[in-house]
Amino acid sequence: MQHDHILILDFGSQVTQLIARRIRENGAYCEIWPFNDASQDRIKKYSPKGIILSGGPCSVTDEDSPRAPSCVFEMGVPVLGICYGQQTLVEQMDGKVEAGHNGEFGRAEINIKTASPLFGDTWKTGDTPTVWMSHGDRVTKIPDGFDVIATSSGAPCAIIANEDKKFYGIQFHPEVAHTQNGSDILRNFVIDICECSGAWTMASYKDEAIAKIREKVGSSKVVCGLSGGVDSSVAAILIHEAIGDQLTCIYVDTGTMRKGESEQVVALFRDHYNIPLIHEDASDLFLGKLEGVSDPEKKRKIIGGTFIDVFDKCAKRIGDVDFLAQGTLYPDVIESVSFIGGPSVTIKSHHNVGGLPEKMDLKILEPLRELFKDEVRDLGRELGLHDDFVSRHPFPGPGLAVRCPGEITREKLAILREADAVYLDAIRKEGLYNEIWQAFAVLLPVRTVGVMGDGRTYDYACALRAVTSTDGMTADFYPFEMDFLSRTATRIINEVRGINRVTYDITSKPPGTIEWE
Ligand code: XMP
Repeated sequence: MQHDHILILDFGSQVTQLIARRIRENGAYCEIWPFNDASQDRIKKYSPKGIILSGGPCSVTDEDSPRAPSCVFEMGVPVLGICYGQQTLVEQMDGKVEAGHNGEFGRAEINIKTASPLFGDTWKTGDTPTVWMSHGDRVTKIPDGFDVIATSSGAPCAIIANEDKKFYGIQFHPEVAHTQNGSDILRNFVIDICECSGAWTMASYKDEAIAKIREKVGSSKVVCGLSGGVDSSVAAILIHEAIGDQLTCIYVDTGTMRKGESEQVVALFRDHYNIPLIHEDASDLFLGKLEGVSDPEKKRKIIGGTFIDVFDKCAKRIGDVDFLAQGTLYPDVIESVSFIGGPSVTIKSHHNVGGLPEKMDLKILEPLRELFKDEVRDLGRELGLHDDFVSRHPFPGPGLAVRCPGEITREKLAILREADAVYLDAIRKEGLYNEIWQAFAVLLPVRTVGVMGDGRTYDYACALRAVTSTDGMTADFYPFEMDFLSRTATRIINEVRGINRVTYDITSKPPGTIEWE
């Protein structure tokens, strides 16, 4: 790795990913490792310029609570402990942490007592910035060599520092937006104290990623499934820059794509980027298998299983493929290795290419596995993808099949395609597309009576959905102006044959999910 980097050891905080975000925004590269997946050898080999210990749900006063590997404090690099990270740093250096005091949760004010390189020009002695706390335990005796450099009413040791060793402990969370200048404090640590260059950019990342792909793949062949979404598209274009025509993309048309989607994929990849592309129109097969099926889980499973079979058949046509490329992102990687992330209940069987690598006996290539979603968008722009494309809303693998509750038919899909296109056109024209995480139409499995012209109609009802979200895990409905909803409903009824009634879905997630199935 040519650039400076920081290591974040994760103790299971809900907001550890935000530490990484803030650091990368400040131009330094960092990785998050679960604390129990970080052997001394691995850490030393990684050779970080500084180490951050995250918060976490445990209490250091509990038996067997997590600790940082001791090498963290012996490598001669700066260390920053945040919340639980501060407490384990204190415990491991012979200070004392106690449970049973009144905790502090939410906003708090701290008092800056002493100047420190951690504060730089951000906070001066006597300042009282607002910070975000979330702790029950507190430090009651600081280790030798440390000073208290900020206090709060609930945390007498709100920030402690051993300036000689460049070890710092912060009781609050500088990574969250509610902490005033929190990002600047992390910048001071990473750039001023750890002396990272701050020169990490997406352009340098792109070059490095290309070099890594070349090294890993050699002269082998790679296959990549395109969904029309941002992640698989960026992965494919990046891999193509690295290894050219050793990459073949496969686009399976399941018959449940949006209006014009298949044509766009072919135009972009085959015609614009000149990437070898197998465009497999398997809509008859998919829609045939889905005939008469109305249970959402059965629909999802049929689509997932059929996709694997079709993809496998297409890949065999290429012959001698060694690697399957996937657009896995960093949050998925962290989730799957997180020491507190266990199996959770299945709300929906997600359709992805899970199961494919085993079936096809392929190695996996995941060139985006170190990136967050908005970094993937930056990388896409770096690779010449148009802004309209990289900022596209997410689209589920099973496509319009999960937006047609109940049994799907070609007729229903055709009506939904038109309604969805009109709705998104209205949102784009209003300049709202980028304010919304995801917007789409749903064709309801009911017909209702209406009157148009002088005649009676008996047509489908359609629901419009638009949500705001940061990660798709929770979401709120988007508060459109009534006037916009009214104009859009009129447009849909006038322009789409087969729909005579429009409703707006005002359910948040939870209790709803974003998709209807
Ligand atoms: P839900 O409906 O579970 O969706 O609230 C959360 C996010 O995931 C997307 N989604 C999928 N994405 N394969 C995907 O790649 C799927 O099977 C799938 N199902 C839902 C959904 O559009 C939303 O962004």
